[in-house]
Order: sequence, then structure tokens, then C-alpha cells
Amino acid sequence: MGREFLEVFSEWAEDYDTFVEGNDVQYRAVFENYEHILDEIVARSGEHVLEFGIGTGNLTQKLIDHDKQVFAVEPSAQMREQAKEKLPESFIVYDGDMQRYPTPVGVIDTVVSSYVFHHLTDNEKGDVLKQYIQLLPKGGKVVFADTLFISEEAYQLKIEEASNLGYAELVDDLKREYYPLLQQVQTAFEEVGFVEVSFQQMNEYVWIIEGEKD
Ligand SMILES: C[S@@+](CC[C@H](N)C(=O)[O-])C[C@H]1O[C@@H](n2cnc3c(N)ncnc32)[C@H](O)[C@@H]1O
Repeated sequence: MGREFLEVFSEWAEDYDTFVEGNDVQYRAVFENYEHILDEIVARSGEHVLEFGIGTGNLTQKLIDHDKQVFAVEPSAQMREQAKEKLPESFIVYDGDMQRYPTPVGVIDTVVSSYVFHHLTDNEKGDVLKQYIQLLPKGGKVVFADTLFISEEAYQLKIEEASNLGYAELVDDLKREYYPLLQQVQTAFEEVGFVEVSFQQMNEYVWIIEGEKD
């Protein structure tokens, strides 16, 4: 579990950046405002950041550019290779995932990820939030950008829309992965003790989710 979609990402690593740039019509809406989404995560982050699922390192690079200390974790060896080509030579990308990862050095004040949280089942989402609230100091935050839906109807409508457009891969993806409803995410955050849980919609699919440790 947790790493069940790894093969997809390992195959995708080499041309992943062409997707975030909007070159694939099926995923264009998912990655709309991608740079702005990453900038928003950076703006909401503290100084010591734990990032999960860094992919090719686009958010990591922005965090580094803003002088943040980043402890970067990525389970796919192929993605780590792509990221290493982009990031500073001495920068370490650790092998790990949202559930199992090397212990970060020093205090972490923000846990971030973009386009990753929906790879975890609902139980796994709750488990990792429990881990992160224990790891964070008072005032520490979780800031995720990810796809979610405001209702079951909205989710089914997106599948229908994508299907009518002939976007077979996007439809498979929407059906296969664990896209949550906004209310479920809010409950998962609040159940483990996060407060001030907020949601900001960034495009048709992606929202910024933020919660703070009281
Ligand atoms: C859609 S990409 C997002 C990459 C990058 N964060 C971005 O915004 O462009 C998803 C990334 O999450 C990684 N991933 C998949 N399952 C994961 C897990 N359980 N824990 C951490 N990362 C995971 C994949 O290997 C991939 O690099």
C-alpha cells in the first residue's frame, strides 16, 4: 500500500515535466496554474520543510530558491534521478514515502506535498496525519496541494465529462486512485487535532489544503 502507484510514476518520470507544462490535453486542467499552486505552497511554508513525493523536484527547487531548508522524500528511483538533474549537486533526495521515511534532521515546521496525498487510501491518509501532528511543533503546519471533490456528484460529473471528451487515461486515473471529498479531508485533519483547516481551490481539480497544530 502507499507505494502501489510507483510503477506508473517510474514510467512517467522522463516526460512528467511536459505534462505539468500543459502539453497533454487530458491532464491540462489538472495542471492548470501549476506554477502558482507551487508558489502558494512556498508562501505558506515555514523555514524547515519536509516534502513528500517531490517528483522531478519543481516544488523543491522553489522552496530552495526561497532559502527554505528542505528534507526531500521520493519513492521512485526514476523520479529521484530526474530531480537530481535539476536540484543543486549536493542536495539529497531520500528514498521514502508518506508513511515510511528517514527521520528528518532537526525540527520540521511544515510538511508539504503537491499531487501526492490522493495516492493513499483513506485509512493511510489518517495514519500519516497522525504521524505528522506528532512530528510538528505547536504552530507547525501541513500544506498539501491535491485533487479533491466537493461532492460525490461533482466527482461522478468529472468522470462523465472526461469520458465524453474521450480522455480514457484520465478517466482510469480518476477511478483508480483515492480522490477524497473535501469533507472527508477536513474530518481526517480535525480528527487527529489539526485546527484552522482551510481549503483554497486552485483549478477545476486541485485545492490547497492547510491545517495547523494547535
Ligand atoms: C503526480 S507526481 C507529483 C510530483 C511533484 N510533487 C509535483 O507536484 O509535480 C506524484 C509523485 O508522488 C510520488 N508518490 C507516489 N506514491 C507516493 C507515496 N505513497 N508517498 C510519497 N510519494 C509518493 C510519485 O513517485 C511521484 O513522484
